[in-house]
Amino acid sequence: MPQMNHTLAIETKGLVKRYSEEVLAVDGIDIAIEKNSIYALLGPNGAGKTTTMSMLTTLLEPTRGSATVAGYDIVTQAKEVRSQIGVTFQEIVLDPDLTGRESLDFHGRLYSMDKAKRQAKIDELLALVELEEAADRRTNTYSGGMKRRLELARGLMTEPDVLFLDEPTQGLDPQNRANIWDYIRNLKENTDMTLLLTTHYMDEAEALADRVAVIDHGKIVVEGTPRELIDQMGTDIFYVDGQGNRETFVVQLQKLPFVQGVDTTDDVIQISVGSGSGRLIEIVKASQAAGFHVEDISLAKPTLGDVFLKYTGRQLRDK
Ligand SMILES: Nc1ncnc2c1ncn2[C@@H]1O[C@H](COP(=O)(O)OP(=O)(O)OP(=O)(O)O)[C@@H](O)[C@H]1O
Ligand SMILES: [Mg+2]
Repeated sequence: MPQMNHTLAIETKGLVKRYSEEVLAVDGIDIAIEKNSIYALLGPNGAGKTTTMSMLTTLLEPTRGSATVAGYDIVTQAKEVRSQIGVTFQEIVLDPDLTGRESLDFHGRLYSMDKAKRQAKIDELLALVELEEAADRRTNTYSGGMKRRLELARGLMTEPDVLFLDEPTQGLDPQNRANIWDYIRNLKENTDMTLLLTTHYMDEAEALADRVAVIDHGKIVVEGTPRELIDQMGTDIFYVDGQGNRETFVVQLQKLPFVQGVDTTDDVIQISVGSGSGRLIEIVKASQAAGFHVEDISLAKPTLGDVFLKYTGRQLRDK
């Protein structure tokens, strides 16, 4: 019987998974995911993303803590949870003897979709993941990327209430990733579906997610909307290239009240400011007063990668 917050599709309380004495993969995770939202777990290899997802999809029992999915408890109501969800795994398990089309059809039958619905959905999804030409080949002839795309199509077959996507675009080319992002956004707009995805691509989290939890060593280090996480970094950087009286320009810059720091280690001068909006003109004025001729100026906002660096002291590699 559903008993938790009705506006939440997923809620976890102190979720822990210990694989062994040495490996504490998930170390007390609390998340609350609103219905019909896209939520991303962003973190590096080994952070505990897949383990979290495996618990929420009832494949793995938590060591401690609890969680509900679609209002059902993942341990005591595992069957009900399974009836509400779709999952796309990071490790791909396809039957090598089936064709791509047959794999999707088989999955649709498992979920009692009628034939007309299956066929319509299969055609739509094969087009989305660009597997129309290969649809009638056995999957053991597919490349890694093709298998991943088919796996994604399979997760989307049944239009579940809650869809779990473990690294949905890992290893795909940019065009393919962009198409899949569009499709995921449309799914959210046009259905009531809630999506939980894991990724180690910060651009993916930024492009798709309503909220992001940055996860490292099994813990959530920071959580919020991508905008909130980036804004609370509080620093934008101007990159200024040019010629002339560089030293005077740097002194002038340091006098400006909004300038937090000036880095001159590279040829391109880096100016840290609280917020870049409206500051360009003042920087250009300072350059003119100093006799420094600006040839190029650009503004860089921090990324989720910078957020990760701030909270963990390490780089979140993007590839
Ligand atoms: N079945 C298992 N038995 C023992 N340890 C495991 C098992 N699965 C994962 N681990 C360990 O648990 C930790 C978290 O792994 P997990 O797969 O959840 O990370 P992840 O964030 O999904 O990483 P990736 O980005 O590489 O997919 C790692 O240290 C991993 O080695
Ligand atoms: Mg993983």
